[in-house]
Amino acid sequence: MIMQTAVRARRPPETVNPFAADVIAGLSVKPKYLPPKYFYDLAGSALFERITHLPEYYPTRSELGLLQKYGPAITSLFPPGCALVEFGAGASTKARILLRAAASVEAYVPIDISGDFLQKDAARLRRDFPHLAIHPVVADFTTMLEPPAEIAAKPRAGFFPGSTIGNFEPHEAAGFLRRAGAILGAGAVFVVGVDLAKSPDILYRAYNDEEGVTAKFNLNLLARINRELGGNFNLEAFEHHAFYNAERSRIEMHLASTKRQKVRLCDTTIEFRAGETIHTENSYKYSIDSFQVLALGSGWSPIKAWTDGLFSVHALRMTEDR
Ligand SMILES: C[S@@+](CC[C@H](N)C(=O)[O-])C[C@H]1O[C@@H](n2cnc3c(N)ncnc32)[C@H](O)[C@@H]1O
Repeated sequence: MIMQTAVRARRPPETVNPFAADVIAGLSVKPKYLPPKYFYDLAGSALFERITHLPEYYPTRSELGLLQKYGPAITSLFPPGCALVEFGAGASTKARILLRAAASVEAYVPIDISGDFLQKDAARLRRDFPHLAIHPVVADFTTMLEPPAEIAAKPRAGFFPGSTIGNFEPHEAAGFLRRAGAILGAGAVFVVGVDLAKSPDILYRAYNDEEGVTAKFNLNLLARINRELGGNFNLEAFEHHAFYNAERSRIEMHLASTKRQKVRLCDTTIEFRAGETIHTENSYKYSIDSFQVLALGSGWSPIKAWTDGLFSVHALRMTEDR
């Protein structure tokens, strides 16, 4: 059955806007931080899409190349008649390659926190894959507990591309892999795209593009706070900073205050020193082995990994009986 509207995951009634609560909490501590999931409103998702086309942003090109080359081998691991569940689907560009390579997939479940962007993409998918059941789910995949009812009886394959797993702290990545295992079920195959540690120069350029799109993506977080929470951030008074932290094997993104200033939002005043930053994202870089060790410790058996030396795509199997 093809659904016309996205399922909104149920959450308990709340009196406090969770976005507002997370922003105030993150800006009230030292060092200041904001959770990266809030990058993705409609404007943020569109900016991320632009990032994926930048010459400096090798991860998308690399992963697309791997999926095109090894798509048939990857999808041959999927259980017959399965539902493909994608965590953080974005524009579903990569899923389309797998869906074309896998005749045996009967349903596609794109999950994303960016609801408007997800809806638009689902409409395009329905047009391009008229025989596939598409069940979009607007949800935070870090708190989701089960798959939508429409695919409860189907075997499942999971997909988590874009190295979104690198945005978690390693212990959170392990927790997410366990949660995904519970959602996908015993016997499921999980295809995960993971960026690899490499030359700091290549990494630096990927997050500091000449056109300044990554800077706009980072600053959109403050623009979103202004739009949705009535904040008065002056975007001209903050700068995009991205650098490689070799000790932690991660790219860090920050927004640095160019001067001493006060910002008001939600009846709260936040003070910034000149040069003080808001830490907005980490992107951890793994080796093939270090990711496989993480997966093994989270209930998944590595089956195979494909790489072009820059990026890796892993196939994992859920072996634990849940
Ligand atoms: C790095 S982008 C990857 C997009 C796409 N899968 C790709 O590979 O190009 C991360 C995606 O995950 C979504 N996302 C981030 N955090 C999320 C969360 N906690 N729950 C659900 N979706 C999330 C974003 O909206 C965005 O579409």
